[in-house]
Amino acid sequence: MRTLIKNGTIITAIDEFVGDVLIEGEKIVAVGTKLDAIADEIVDAKGKYVLPGGVDQHVHYSFEFKGERVRGFETSNAAVAGGTTTVVEFVNQEQGKGMADTIFDMDKKEVSNQAMADYSYHAVVCDPVDATFEEINDLPSKGISTVKLFMAYKGMPFHSDDEALYKALKSAKEAGVTVMVHCENADVIDLLQKKMISEGKTDPYYHAVSRPERVELEATQRVINLAAMVGAPVYIVHVTAESVMESIRSAKNEGLPVYGETCVQYLMLDEDDLAKPNFEGAKYVMSPALRTKSDQEALWQAVDNGWLNAISTDHCGFDWKSQKHMGVNDFTNIPNGAPGVENRLGILWTYGVNTGKLSKQRFVDLFATTPAKNMGLDHCKGHIGVGMDADIVIYDPNGSSVISNENSLHGVDYSTFEGYKQDGKVAKVFLRGKLVVDEGAFIGEKGDGKFIPGKPFALCFDDVKEKKELKRI
Ligand code: URP
Ligand code: ZN
Ligand code: ZN
Ligand code: ZN
Repeated sequence: MRTLIKNGTIITAIDEFVGDVLIEGEKIVAVGTKLDAIADEIVDAKGKYVLPGGVDQHVHYSFEFKGERVRGFETSNAAVAGGTTTVVEFVNQEQGKGMADTIFDMDKKEVSNQAMADYSYHAVVCDPVDATFEEINDLPSKGISTVKLFMAYKGMPFHSDDEALYKALKSAKEAGVTVMVHCENADVIDLLQKKMISEGKTDPYYHAVSRPERVELEATQRVINLAAMVGAPVYIVHVTAESVMESIRSAKNEGLPVYGETCVQYLMLDEDDLAKPNFEGAKYVMSPALRTKSDQEALWQAVDNGWLNAISTDHCGFDWKSQKHMGVNDFTNIPNGAPGVENRLGILWTYGVNTGKLSKQRFVDLFATTPAKNMGLDHCKGHIGVGMDADIVIYDPNGSSVISNENSLHGVDYSTFEGYKQDGKVAKVFLRGKLVVDEGAFIGEKGDGKFIPGKPFALCFDDVKEKKELKRI
């Protein structure tokens, strides 16, 4: 089966031109101008943008918070409808079980038959025994090229201390595995949460008061130092604040292999959202907490300049009525996290590209190309080029709509970006050559998505000083 996408404006991380893309089976086999090819299907993309399918390197389809679980891969059509064709899921290691076994048992049970986007996995260290750190060496052979540790969430099964972090960094460096870290000082948050609750400060807004910017900054600086002691790369997830971004930037300036992402919500929302009345604020309870408008400006500048190299969503499908309300009398019981995977392209296009904050090339880089590199997926994902998977979005820039939960596929009862305007729309999406969104409507099937193994020694290792001594080179 050959499909020719004709006359679209093709955008890559470095390029923009009117041209054609030829798909054969699951792959892109030609890209050029006025391609003279015989095809079974011809798609006229005149006046539309042809973008690589998005790679969201930070989603949660299996996260549990105090017994409440997010919506799973049965809602991954929302990602695809929003132009994201690959997601990378965090899997919390079960106690007493290997990380890879936890991941692939889950894959068999609830992912491979449900996924509608392609996917890869991060292993989350939860059982800090010797066998876990030894297992990091084996992960690349199974297609896992990242591990994640949570410095936050004291008392929860996925919290890690500094000893675990240090040990993980050491093993991961040798194995070519990138360590990703959620940076917040868990002890200080715990004390502040107890103080708030004892003072009767139980509303969602106090979520932010109990996790001030400095708890994120302190933990970020600590892990940068731990990584520097080991000489390992480290990737800081969901950066929220100017100060935190600046500490990553200055570590980079020192020549340290320190990388970071931010998320759409930290570019768009702020602590005032947490203060919305009638428990609406609970919709915005996520960790780290939303910050200020001036942090937003600093983060836009950081993504534009490459000081942070990806924009993710940290997507968590928790219901407001049935799940967020667990914390109606105590904000510490509100499940942390908010949905967003469906809105990443539309929001970044409208408020990034169309405001001039990001060029189209920068947008593609942050949305698809560099996340694929970070995850060791760039052999097939994140770019429109010959030999790449035919994951393609046709974006129609005409018209606008208003984001509403009513039109959303994410399977929960609210939208984080309810009421925001979106310029243009995702008109068509191809997932490895298969048309899965047509005229804006999802037409794919459960099981269309497949596991894509991540390769070790990904982009984050490019700045590792002694990389020639490591196994890759
Ligand atoms: O609040 C959040 N971000 N929930 C998801 C888990 C995490 O911390 O990444
Ligand atoms: Zn986190
Ligand atoms: Zn700030
Ligand atoms: Zn997360």
